[in-house]
Amino acid sequence: MTAPTTAPARAHTPPDWRQDAVVYQVYPRSFADSDGDGCGDLAGIRSRLGYLRDLGVDALWISPFYTSPQADGGYDVADYRAVDPAYGTVGDADALIADAHALGLRVIVDIVPNHCSDQHPWFLQALREGTASPLRSRFHFRPGRGPDGEEPPNDWVSLFGGPAWTRTTGPGGTPGEWYLHLFSPQQPDFNWDSPAVQDEFRAILRFWLDLGADGFRVDVAHGLVKAPGLPDLGRHEQLGLLGEKLVPYFDQDGVHEIYRSWRSLLEEYPGQRIAVAEAWAKSFERTARYVRPDELHQAFNFKFLNAPWDATRLRELITTSLAAMHAVDAPTTWTLSNHDVVRHASRYAEGDPARGLRRARAAALLMLALPGSAYLYQGEELGLPEVTDIPDDMRHDPAFRRSDGGNGLRDGCRVPLPWSGRTAPYGFGPLPGGPTWLPQPDQWADLSVEAQNGDPRSVLELYRSALRIRRTDPALGAGRSVEWLDLAPGILAFRRDSEQGALVCTVNTTGEPVTVPTGGLGTLLLTSAGPQSCREDATALLQADSTSWWRTD
Ligand code: GLC
Ligand code: MG
Repeated sequence: MTAPTTAPARAHTPPDWRQDAVVYQVYPRSFADSDGDGCGDLAGIRSRLGYLRDLGVDALWISPFYTSPQADGGYDVADYRAVDPAYGTVGDADALIADAHALGLRVIVDIVPNHCSDQHPWFLQALREGTASPLRSRFHFRPGRGPDGEEPPNDWVSLFGGPAWTRTTGPGGTPGEWYLHLFSPQQPDFNWDSPAVQDEFRAILRFWLDLGADGFRVDVAHGLVKAPGLPDLGRHEQLGLLGEKLVPYFDQDGVHEIYRSWRSLLEEYPGQRIAVAEAWAKSFERTARYVRPDELHQAFNFKFLNAPWDATRLRELITTSLAAMHAVDAPTTWTLSNHDVVRHASRYAEGDPARGLRRARAAALLMLALPGSAYLYQGEELGLPEVTDIPDDMRHDPAFRRSDGGNGLRDGCRVPLPWSGRTAPYGFGPLPGGPTWLPQPDQWADLSVEAQNGDPRSVLELYRSALRIRRTDPALGAGRSVEWLDLAPGILAFRRDSEQGALVCTVNTTGEPVTVPTGGLGTLLLTSAGPQSCREDATALLQADSTSWWRTD
């Protein structure tokens, strides 16, 4: 590999890093494998911290690495204070955090408070002790409906398919009570009315904060509190994660009390600890309630992630996002991919991978020019596509088996990263030809970090350049608004002012090159597809599906 260029120190660090951090999501199973068992691990992440520092991100968010039977990729936690042996030990987590800090990187851990694993000691004890167990009140156990209790207690459906209730078996094999699980049956929901649950999670937060974690990504933050009495939904439709309606198990008002208590806990700690909510709510205004001044710091912007590649829709959505977060004085966030969705290089392709990649490059520059924080998902900086040919018997996503299967489910974005070499595992693990927990495509040699390193046309170098500029240019990063420019139909363009001149971002969302006047644009700083021909007649040609950054002093 060529010698890495060290990311420049930030030239315009805002007083609070939480205003505009670029956070890189690590899916630990698929990032880097240190011991050759085919499963990524903490030592693997630790060995690649230099890569993340040189990429130019501010922080890593690591998806769950706790002890877990892995029924849902670690989002089924059996012990919140221990590391799964497949990933290492708490000592490894400690060392990882220390090394990250030494490199100027912060570490956000993923906390899963809505549910645990069915192998969690509380749940096992609640099952063992039967209906009379006091531990049952820490979960949602209910008798069934119908003459013999053979019907679930209500009509809620699991987000992974099937009913949200599973019946327990009593002593001697007799059918017993049912328990609630909004996700898989291996993920029983906690009852957040229980003081024991509340205390336990405050203690877990402290455990990781004491270890040096810079904060938390809060899994299913909108799900903890259920409507009193667990009323029927009343409609038997399968609901997606993105709530368009208020349902009795999501976004209940009572949830905000929990986050107020977490916020004051976080503030007892020095060093600007962060909490970012995975909160699916039906409107930006409802999402903004999670980041009011005394609650969490940031919330993911899933509407941006789900937006079509269309200038009008994007502009509308960006404006609404900024306004909603401004109203509660919180930074807006932007994200294009994560471990739950089809990778955006494929999402944008609409049947043409080259188009997908063009748009993915353009979308990255758009996202990184917007005010607020950006969340990158591992591998997007390599332009990785969704893997769509994983054999069914190798898939792990519980949703795959509980629904009618097919692509679009979540293994295709979780394939281990290609780092180097011409054949699998492409440096993911230490052994040539060694295993990977999901198969990597044969075509990934050209997408590896090594293959892209130093190639100015590569997606990796585009991300590095953009992040380098973002760290030094005072017009980028924190902010609450943008100034829109009307250049031509299909062109999204905005300006961000600073005391040292302005940065203009132009996005051509159309499939054709578009000519725009250069007056006011300034000089070309960076482009996702170019070079743009700046002609004598003061016009510039914006390539199809491309974003450019322009600078005036
Ligand atoms: C979140 C996670 C997802 C997980 C689910 C249940 O949506 O991002 O991966 O399956 O919560 O924990
Ligand atoms: Mg390993």
